[in-house]
Amino acid sequence: MIELDKVAVSFGDRTLFSDVSLILPPGSFHFLTGPSGSGKTTLIRLCSMEMQPNSGQVQLLGKTVSGLSQNNVSAMRQRLGVVHQDSRFIDHLSVAENVALPAAVTGKTGRHTEYQLEELLAWVGLAGQAKNLPPELSGGERQRAALARAVMLSPDVLLADEPTGNVDWDMSIHILELLIELNKLGKTVLCATHDLNLIRQAKSRVSAKVLRLHGGAIEIAGAGL
Ligand SMILES: Nc1ncnc2c1ncn2[C@@H]1O[C@H](COP(=O)(O)OP(=O)(O)O)[C@@H](O)[C@H]1O
Ligand SMILES: [Mg+2]
Repeated sequence: MIELDKVAVSFGDRTLFSDVSLILPPGSFHFLTGPSGSGKTTLIRLCSMEMQPNSGQVQLLGKTVSGLSQNNVSAMRQRLGVVHQDSRFIDHLSVAENVALPAAVTGKTGRHTEYQLEELLAWVGLAGQAKNLPPELSGGERQRAALARAVMLSPDVLLADEPTGNVDWDMSIHILELLIELNKLGKTVLCATHDLNLIRQAKSRVSAKVLRLHGGAIEIAGAGL
């Protein structure tokens, strides 16, 4: 589903990754951990086609990303849901309009889409805040709105970059439950987090693997986590 093969990434003369390879099979659940600055966000951006490696290959949904036409990139993006570390919203649109935006920009409107939107807002527990503006939401509500927006187009893959950053423990667990539910529906999930307690909590509930970034390399973390 997602495959990185000998990927190298440099920023200026600083090499972040020199040789990272990774396979995320369809339907798998992976955490991505590592200290701040180790490259978690960069790795998510490689997987979401927001950036290209300096060398090596990224394969998504069976296609090599480099050399894809703009049309193909757009079509692939619809199959990827991304929750960014800094959940960006359009502040003068309501929560419901923000969540529905991926559908609106791809021309999906109508009764079915409205129904889907309602279901999704209820699923993340934001039905009551649908008409609010994003600045009126708490941190946890923003993260849940970002998650709802990421899955609005029913993607096959969900990439979540620290979706429980800046939220309290109960809310972290709530967000984790939502990710687990999505995975049980067959979606491939990659979740960057530095919260080891969250990972421990998840491991009793779902067969998640833990990838650790350290010193520009990626390793599978052992059971002793
Ligand atoms: N666009 C960029 N330009 C220059 N340096 C960058 C850029 N993106 C990330 N970096 C650097 O790469 C390193 C990894 O960043 P990041 O992927 O955000 O790590 P993490 O998400 O694990 O905290 C950091 O040192 C960061 O400063
Ligand atoms: Mg980051």
